[in-house]
Amino acid sequence: MASSDQIRLLLVEDVPQVAQYVRSLLNSQSHIKLLDVLTDGAKAISSAQQLRPDVMLVDALLQGRVKGLALVEQIQSQRLGVPVVVLTVPQNPVEPSPERGIDAVLSMPFSGYDLMNKITSVHQNYQSANSVGGSRQIAVFAPKGGVGKTTIAFNLAVAIGQRGSKTVLIDASLQFGDMRALLKVPVDAPSILDLPTDRIQESDLQDVLWRDPSGIDILLAPPRVEMAEMVTVRDVDKVLSLLRRVYEAIVLDLPAPLNDINLAFLDASDTILEIVTYDSTTIHNTIAVADAFRSIGYPAAKVRYLINRADSPGGISPDDLARALGRVPEHRVVSDGMLVVQSNNEGIPFVLANPDAAVSQDVARMATELMAVARVPAGARR
Ligand SMILES: Nc1ncnc2c1ncn2[C@@H]1O[C@H](COP(=O)(O)OP(=O)(O)OP(=O)(O)O)[C@@H](O)[C@H]1O
Ligand SMILES: [Mg+2]
Repeated sequence: MASSDQIRLLLVEDVPQVAQYVRSLLNSQSHIKLLDVLTDGAKAISSAQQLRPDVMLVDALLQGRVKGLALVEQIQSQRLGVPVVVLTVPQNPVEPSPERGIDAVLSMPFSGYDLMNKITSVHQNYQSANSVGGSRQIAVFAPKGGVGKTTIAFNLAVAIGQRGSKTVLIDASLQFGDMRALLKVPVDAPSILDLPTDRIQESDLQDVLWRDPSGIDILLAPPRVEMAEMVTVRDVDKVLSLLRRVYEAIVLDLPAPLNDINLAFLDASDTILEIVTYDSTTIHNTIAVADAFRSIGYPAAKVRYLINRADSPGGISPDDLARALGRVPEHRVVSDGMLVVQSNNEGIPFVLANPDAAVSQDVARMATELMAVARVPAGARR
């Protein structure tokens, strides 16, 4: 994972001597961290869901209700998203078979070098194989208020969710948390501040995320303006790296200022969806931000422009806009005052309230396009 090179290992082994041997081999190093040793295969899936290991090491000869290879099958069928190394003895040969969930085999006796080598290579292969279809983080941003960031972020997240990707929306507008008002959540609904500050696990997320009826999960902003200051860049990095493991799409509703926290959100994003409107101050700020992004080192392809209310040019021609931005905006969403305002007031996404409306179709198309965009390496700011 981006935040740490350490590989988190979960061992499923019911022979105490073998578990102790693995433990002793890993004791003298810090590259691989042994999260736990489970002796009961029947509890391994739920433990893995909680601990989110990077690699699991499973003894093929595991006894009990769920035997070793049956457990490997379960890990595969439940799509845990964890590569598995199977541990065996020469008398019980097992062939590597990624289709059956056996990513690699380690046969006894093995050395510390064999163990580390196997785990590291399985982890690397798995990460590179999954990074193409891996999680996408899209920051909805504009250097100007009131241009439709919250509206677009919410509807885009739902549209991505509708396309079958597990999606979370982060209300990164930490001071004024628009999603709370939009969704009319209770004041005591938990926020990003309710996550533990040291090691966060997936189980912590379960308690904090708002499950919206629209099918997406939402990480809300703190309930009071002054509480925004309590969120640090470190918190942001940790939350994002955990969410990346669990969700296929992360959509952020970002506020306008370019401060440290917002840059941490932008740095970690694959795509910055920058909203522009036909309005001279918005265009002016957009050009200023393009300069800032260039000096930060973001590749040009990391930013994709969206013209919101694209059918209301207000005296500025599309050509002028393209000239000012240096390129034709990649996406456009039309205006629909009636539907958008009414849906926002009811706290429901317009893409579900009226999927056939032109504005909904525009967002749906954008959802497909954004998820298909090849991942651009995150900016090299830090
Ligand atoms: N495509 C659209 N058609 C019609 N109305 C829209 C459209 N997009 C946004 N709006 C309206 O514009 C207003 C501002 O939208 P929104 O609150 O999403 O903007 P914002 O950029 O998040 O604002 P803030 O900077 O305050 O967070 C809302 O009333 C919303 O209903
Ligand atoms: Mg907003």
